[in-house]
Amino acid sequence: MTGAPLGSQTVSAQRRVEAVVRRLHAGAPLVHDGRSAAEESTVRYVLLPSASRPRLVLPAEAPRAAAAALGRLLQGGGRRRVFRGAAVAVARSGLLGRWPGATLTVPQTSRSVVARLADAVDETELVLTMRLGPPRANWKPVAQVTDRAGRVLAFVKIGHDELTSTLVRHESDALHLLAERPLADVRVPEVRGTVQQDDLVALVLSPLEAPEPPAGDAATRRVLLDVVSAIAAPDRRARQPWGASAFAGGLARRLAAAGARALPAAQLLRRLMDERGGEELTFAPWHGDLNPGNVRLAARGPSVVWDWERYSEGVPLGLDLLHHDLTSAMDVQPPVAAAASLASRSRAGLESLGLTSSDVLLVTALHLLELVTRYLEDRQDQAGSPLGRIEEWALPALETTVREAVEEHR
Ligand SMILES: Nc1ncnc2c1ncn2[C@@H]1O[C@H](COP(=O)(O)OP(=O)(O)O)[C@@H](O)[C@H]1O
Ligand SMILES: [Mg+2]
Repeated sequence: MTGAPLGSQTVSAQRRVEAVVRRLHAGAPLVHDGRSAAEESTVRYVLLPSASRPRLVLPAEAPRAAAAALGRLLQGGGRRRVFRGAAVAVARSGLLGRWPGATLTVPQTSRSVVARLADAVDETELVLTMRLGPPRANWKPVAQVTDRAGRVLAFVKIGHDELTSTLVRHESDALHLLAERPLADVRVPEVRGTVQQDDLVALVLSPLEAPEPPAGDAATRRVLLDVVSAIAAPDRRARQPWGASAFAGGLARRLAAAGARALPAAQLLRRLMDERGGEELTFAPWHGDLNPGNVRLAARGPSVVWDWERYSEGVPLGLDLLHHDLTSAMDVQPPVAAAASLASRSRAGLESLGLTSSDVLLVTALHLLELVTRYLEDRQDQAGSPLGRIEEWALPALETTVREAVEEHR
């Protein structure tokens, strides 16, 4: 691949979406502003709200499919709900077929990724609706695949460069593994197939229905703790002095490889290892990105968890809970405040997972170290994600947590 990665902030949103659509259809998209009916051998997409800031890519000739897909792709309240309402109304009105705004038209060929996706779900013709996120290093479209009537056939995650294709392949491996040893009361997507073409990887996943959520804070917390515990498979846990663990060694290696900016974090890890590295912790599998958008808790029956790109094993028990608590706090307060109060917010939950009171600061520090390492490795700052500036939020919290963890121990 040439030029900047598509997730980079230097690549305009419009170029990014054109590049992905072109690769999915194995042909060059033509940008049209104004009315132009699609030819029979082409597919036309409407970009909403505009060509310069596209958040949705909707099939112009399949309004029912677009309307059905939108409800699922745009979950959440507040401004999202307003945007969803407007977009669904546009789709239902039939306006998409004669959309006066930005559209992309691509030729339809049997060699395209889309044609191969159709094979993967045993359909002759399918319709893609895509939601696009803001620029970040791991920016990647997620497409909902339906038939023309709007029946959901699959979700497709699209890796398009080195980082995102690696993540998508990793998710495929994790889901195959989880299919072999299912988690208690947690449902995950099934892999229906993988389509590869050049540097594009499209992972085809079975669609999962969101369950009825638990009512009230206490029940919600209980179910979340059960989900975290189930992912940290009780039969795959082991206790070990953490300083000698593969996890700690991996952190040290990754930080050393991340350059000068990683030096403060590397020193904090070293300090924590020197002072408390001999203490035993429980190691277990984790989801790796259990933010509130990646889990739907269930009042009864299995909860649903997707987005397994960061799954790994052998990490300190509790990291998924910390990650969930941090990312949900960041929805309502500035990252620096959310990170600073992480240990106190998660303490009771961590203890109910089986951590001792003196594990709490230690494991919180290890979670912040993992996060800082990931953001540095992914070069999130260069991709334009504000969270990439770890010095402004995660690093201060890490410093405080390490200091307190060391003092507590003396
Ligand atoms: N298999 C699936 N079934 C139902 N919805 C899904 C599925 N996979 C993804 N989604 C929806 O698409 C969204 C984005 O998918 P996700 O895997 O989280 O991608 P990303 O890595 O971009 O966060 C999810 O939050 C969810 O709403
Ligand atoms: Mg996600």
